[in-house]
Amino acid sequence: MNRNEAAFFEKCEEAKKIAFSFNNPLIVHHYDADGVSSGAIVAGAFLNQGKTFRRECIKKLDDEAIDRYLASGENEVIFVDLGGGNKRVNELKDVVIIDHHQTEGVEKLQVNPLLHGIDGGSEISAAGVAYCVFRTSADLAVVGAVGDMQSPLFGMNRWIVSEGEKSGEILVEHDLRFYGRYCRPLVQFLSYSDDPYIPGISYREDRSEQLFSDLGIKTEGERKYSDLNNEEKKSVISALANIVPGKKLVGESYVFPKRPKNETYEANEFSTLLNACGRHSKPDIGVRVCLKDESAYEEARSLLRLHRKMLREGVEFAFSNVQDLGPVYFLDGRGIIEEGVIGVICGMVLKQGWKKPIIGVSLGENNTIKISGRASKTLVENGLSLGDFMKKAALELGGIGGGHSVAAGASIPNKINEFLLFCGDYDFNRKNLDKV
Ligand code: C5P
Repeated sequence: MNRNEAAFFEKCEEAKKIAFSFNNPLIVHHYDADGVSSGAIVAGAFLNQGKTFRRECIKKLDDEAIDRYLASGENEVIFVDLGGGNKRVNELKDVVIIDHHQTEGVEKLQVNPLLHGIDGGSEISAAGVAYCVFRTSADLAVVGAVGDMQSPLFGMNRWIVSEGEKSGEILVEHDLRFYGRYCRPLVQFLSYSDDPYIPGISYREDRSEQLFSDLGIKTEGERKYSDLNNEEKKSVISALANIVPGKKLVGESYVFPKRPKNETYEANEFSTLLNACGRHSKPDIGVRVCLKDESAYEEARSLLRLHRKMLREGVEFAFSNVQDLGPVYFLDGRGIIEEGVIGVICGMVLKQGWKKPIIGVSLGENNTIKISGRASKTLVENGLSLGDFMKKAALELGGIGGGHSVAAGASIPNKINEFLLFCGDYDFNRKNLDKV
């Protein structure tokens, strides 16, 4: 399909007009970082206009959810980061869909970059689409994109960044790529970082502390990397470069000068905070943080601590339990890793050099299995779409699934063996992948 940005922006205008013409719509959004930030953009736009709305966050838009909206007579619904994937939205009355997932057979008003030849998997997220519709909170649009693994940002995301730079909401920084420059104490900042893995430092707090002490850098008092002066930062980067010469240590990151210097100041850290809220059943706390409600920060922080603990334990389990099943790497997290974080953990253990995707499974609600997949960008460039795979697998096994090329998921009935057989039969575009 030919790229048509003008038609996309026209659709955005139309969606905004219709959305604001609603009396008291229900805003329904997804629960991951992109879902929470996009839901918050829409809610924020309504608040700015003094318009009434209700909001709910859901894990998936399945038939049960649609039946519930039909039964309760929801006449005006705005779907955000979902909606395009379930044709049954056609049964509802007035609907606006703001989405970036694959869509088919949906007749309701939908703003979706994929319908205009713009890649919703890599260059704009649902939060970006919500920004294009309502033109508010460019910073949240970037948080959603980073949360959806679209960093480094390009295309439509890049345009949003430039809009945010103009409004003073976004600053692009080039610095150490490690997570936690603004929120982790120095010693943990280095010792918890393993991308790239720093031999002798990653997972070693004592050695991390020694490195700072050798450089004459004080670590006391919860000092963060962002508190260091330029000379100190340079000395840390060159010390690391000596340990791992040739590794890409410095990269682009996005910070938000209008937000407090806490976990919401930098896009990567902010998106982790939102994931922590959404994936541990407290998406409303995440939305309140997005809307700068300071009374929500403390609870968000404690969810983040829980999230990190679960990720740490999950990654540790994954390191010794990922199996090579031939077509895919497989992580059986049933009974060990919660369904809300299995996808994040797969993303953390995925190596960009891997020539096959990683598929993780976990126990879902009501005797279902939650499946999450993650693939390297190289695989995707060579033709793999995990979103397609999940959709087909779910269809075959009586579940619901989809997503993007690099990150996708599904919920299926408890039929793990059938699912594995399906993986074995699936092409995964191996002809192309062999050439990677
Ligand atoms: O849950 P997980 O993080 O693995 O999801 C990855 C992507 O797959 C998300 O963008 C999500 O929207 C999509 N997904 C989906 N249908 C599901 C589960 C996940 O479209 N049942």
